[in-house]
Amino acid sequence: MSLPFIDLKSQYHQLKSDIDQRIQRVLDHGQYILGPEVLECEQALAKFTGSEYCITVASGTDALYMALLSVGVKPGDEVIVPAFSFFATAEVVALLNATPVFVDVQKNSFNMDPEKLEEAISEKTKVIMPVSLYGQVADMDEINSIAKKHNLIVIEDAAQSFGATYKGKRSCNLSDFGATSFFPAKPLGCYGDGGAIFTNSKESYEQLISIRNHGQEGRYHHVRLGINGRLDTLQCAVLLSKLSVYQEEIEKRQMAASYYTEKFQVMEGVQVPQLSDNRDSVWAQYTLRVKDRESFQKKMMELGVPTAVHYPSVLSEQPALDGLSKVYNVEVAKKAAHEVVSLPMHPYLTPDVQDQVISAVEKCI
Ligand SMILES: Cc1ncc(COP(=O)(O)O)c(C=O)c1O
Repeated sequence: MSLPFIDLKSQYHQLKSDIDQRIQRVLDHGQYILGPEVLECEQALAKFTGSEYCITVASGTDALYMALLSVGVKPGDEVIVPAFSFFATAEVVALLNATPVFVDVQKNSFNMDPEKLEEAISEKTKVIMPVSLYGQVADMDEINSIAKKHNLIVIEDAAQSFGATYKGKRSCNLSDFGATSFFPAKPLGCYGDGGAIFTNSKESYEQLISIRNHGQEGRYHHVRLGINGRLDTLQCAVLLSKLSVYQEEIEKRQMAASYYTEKFQVMEGVQVPQLSDNRDSVWAQYTLRVKDRESFQKKMMELGVPTAVHYPSVLSEQPALDGLSKVYNVEVAKKAAHEVVSLPMHPYLTPDVQDQVISAVEKCI
């Protein structure tokens, strides 16, 4: 039998009575859309990140899309994104008929390389959208200062890094906007699709509340174009419960990651993930680099240990973006896409299970 890659059942088992009660409360009051749990959840999420405002939305993709909409990204504008990320990062830009401009990532962190930014800035650039990949925040100070110099907006794609810290502040509260995902497999996940946008600007908050609800300001009075991007009350109820133990879960993830790293760093043939200075990670993924990934994954599967690849190719090579993007040199990202492989990672990993994974890796490299 294969080990779980992410163990949502153990988490539910631990929180069952609280989650069940919260869900029952929603069923009892029946306000499934924008019920009281939505604002309660937004206030709790904002407090957790230290941001002034949080707008919960239907997915991480919607969070990015709505943040771009709110700053008025229009056809022909350019948005600089790292070439190594999940497709949504660039997809939302192209959906607005703007141009995703791909820059390379750093070798050790897999995050946007600020040194590659200035050459990619043009008169059309409007937004820089770094991704805090695998749970570790990108070099936000350097990115923010380049953005400031060129009068650009920064949106952190924090889909994988909710809760991570950078110089003592939390991810999502490090730039003009932070956008996260509550997809079930994310470090903080709900029981379906979900996401949130964070900002310290009251004006942006009010705009986003309207965009999330078809651009309404007052019932059936639509002052701008928006979407149906609301997060269901039931998902907010689940998030409130999970948020109550999230800090402990982050610490458990960090302990599990340290244990993996201690064992793997002395093994030949694997490269362990590296943390940059002044930050931690929430370990959305624990990702090694190996040379012959295909055979590694096949052998791991035979030993009952699941692995996953985030992501097997760079965004600039995705067929859907043919002719729609601009690409700088992304060789570091291309190499990463050939070598990365993620191992089971969740807060309920026991030392026994970790030892099974570690011994499997030793046999498979
Ligand atoms: C980096 C990144 N951006 C955006 C998204 C999109 O989030 P969602 O799946 O909630 O729409 C994800 C989710 O996988 C992601 O990992």
